[in-house]
Amino acid sequence: MGVIDICSTSSLSFTEPSSNRHRIFVHQRLFLPLGRNNNHRAFFVMSSAIPVEHVNEGQQRLSGESFIRTHLRKLSPYQPILPFEVLSAQLGRRPEDIVKLDANENPYGPPPEVLEALGKLKFPYIYPDPESRCLRKALAKDSGLESNHILVGCGADELIDLIMRCTLDPGDKIVDCPPTFTMYEFDAGVNGAEVIKVGRRPDFNLNVELIVEAVRQEKPKCIFLTSPNNPDGSVINDEDLLEILELPILVVLDEAYIEFSGLESRMKWVKKHDNLIVLRTFSKRAGLAGLRVGYGAFPLSIIEYLWRAKQPYNVSVAAEVSACAALENPVYLEKVKDALVKERGRLYKLLKEVPFLNPHPSCSNFILCAVESGMDAKMLKEDLAKMGVMVRHYNNKELKGYIRVSVGKPEQTDILMECLKQFF
Ligand SMILES: Cc1ncc(COP(=O)(O)O)c(C=O)c1O
Repeated sequence: MGVIDICSTSSLSFTEPSSNRHRIFVHQRLFLPLGRNNNHRAFFVMSSAIPVEHVNEGQQRLSGESFIRTHLRKLSPYQPILPFEVLSAQLGRRPEDIVKLDANENPYGPPPEVLEALGKLKFPYIYPDPESRCLRKALAKDSGLESNHILVGCGADELIDLIMRCTLDPGDKIVDCPPTFTMYEFDAGVNGAEVIKVGRRPDFNLNVELIVEAVRQEKPKCIFLTSPNNPDGSVINDEDLLEILELPILVVLDEAYIEFSGLESRMKWVKKHDNLIVLRTFSKRAGLAGLRVGYGAFPLSIIEYLWRAKQPYNVSVAAEVSACAALENPVYLEKVKDALVKERGRLYKLLKEVPFLNPHPSCSNFILCAVESGMDAKMLKEDLAKMGVMVRHYNNKELKGYIRVSVGKPEQTDILMECLKQFF
């Protein structure tokens, strides 16, 4: 890795054609005279990332795939949900008529200040502030943590990837505790890391003993923890978290849904624990999933490197303005959160009355339900979709017989229940 300065002959190096190293080609015909007395020469140099054995010796054309990094050729694509408009066309229903309970979005949307601020955007043609200063200042006030510990991203998703890009060398290991948010495993794959899966207990709590053992044996670099966990809504207690923080591992605590738990965020803990990162998002608390704003709290010794590695303009002007405007109306955010928490209680009770569903108690804005009594979870999801009600079904082995239902507005719960009644 590094830069080859094409004006400096001293930076050129050659590797043995037969060795396994990467090859540097020098195009002799492109020697150019430089300077008046022709004493200096510039070289046109291409450094190939293709190991020597993959370089085609003959005239055969290389396929596009041969340029792709080896570990990415085996990567399974992330399975995102369908865009709202595509879904609407597929179901033959207006977007407004779809009860969308499959992606834990906030159905109330952002406070009115957000749309007002977007309408008044003065300089959309100017690049955004690479340091998102206004938003970080507002977040410092909101969280009680100084802004130099805070970095903003294009959703918490971007920060997960950025953390991995800054910490993982290819071949490094991460600990993942399934069932959980699948982006950790996906991003680990993108970053060439190996995933050590330490499954949860039957009640979805972390198996801390096994985590300690895995860290001892496998020596992973980081662990991704989620509290409340997606998809079951369980939270991590202080005792378990502190035990994991004692391990020689970077702990990334994802608090995307913390507002719905009634628990305090651990953002401030990053000042005490040099191996802790806490991630949060505006997608759920402020109904801004479409505008993509997430944020993280970092120890100063780590954040410095994320600043260096992040894309300069990762948070758009619209995203920053929207998040700042949302924070200006904490009363609205609190009201919407309270409405969702109240509706979670009602939804849970109603789901419990469905003979083939076994809902799991949740501290978040979704409820995981075991689909039982001979009912097939995938078919149930598909049948509900035909009626315009979207819930989440999983294909992975841990969650095969489950569906996850996001908490919506009371009228959305009513429609869901009407549809479910058709099956009993
Ligand atoms: C646990 C968890 N973390 C992070 C995210 C992504 O957040 P963002 O929308 O800010 O990228 C999600 C999205 O569903 C999530 O479930």
